[in-house]
Amino acid sequence: MKYLTVALAKGRLAELAMDMFGEIGMDCSEMKEKTRKLIFTDEKNKMKFILVKASDVPTYVEYGAADIGIVGKDTLLEENRNLYEMINLGFGKCKMAVCGKAEMRDRIFNVNNLKVASKYPHIAEKFFRDEKGQTIELIKLNGSVELAPLVGLSDVIVDIVESGKTLAENGLEVLYDICPLSAWFVVNKVSMKMYTERIMAIVEGLSRNLGGN
Ligand code: PRP
Repeated sequence: MKYLTVALAKGRLAELAMDMFGEIGMDCSEMKEKTRKLIFTDEKNKMKFILVKASDVPTYVEYGAADIGIVGKDTLLEENRNLYEMINLGFGKCKMAVCGKAEMRDRIFNVNNLKVASKYPHIAEKFFRDEKGQTIELIKLNGSVELAPLVGLSDVIVDIVESGKTLAENGLEVLYDICPLSAWFVVNKVSMKMYTERIMAIVEGLSRNLGGN
């Protein structure tokens, strides 16, 4: 039988995903040992689990290097890849929001060429251009985005807010909610046709557990 490969977004989502697969009888225990290995095998269920950078999960799945992916909706919206979004897993809940200093609250949609810093350039562009009909100056960053309005690099940021702690500790606030986010189970389109039964059995197992939560 062919191995089905699951790409997990490295970090917190991967840990939650491993617990979730453990609950439906898959063995990810090897992954929990803190090693630098990137591929783990469950021989009994003929599954492989690979650990990849979150933003690369949709790429592995679109190209079929992974049949299945577990990844945040933020990454799916940003990468916009050709794949099936099968189930909202409901964990890793947070939101995408426009954030900044309180004084910007009433001005964000009135400023010409608002300077927006973000790790999510497509989401930011799409929100301001398509939803609000506003042109912005987009500044792409790769982390610690909250710094940008503090040092005058941008007027606001578009970023993930989970507990809100990073914002609060830096004197920033949520100015406008863009959308809710959580982890999704995604599937390669060809894999879905070729291994329908096996993939649907996993989907049903996971859905049953989600229903029980
Ligand atoms: C994310 C996000 C915020 C923070 C939000 O950053 O970009 O900075 O978490 O979480 P909170 O609302 O619970 O404080 P991440 O930890 O991925 O680090 P990064 O800024 O280096 O990308």
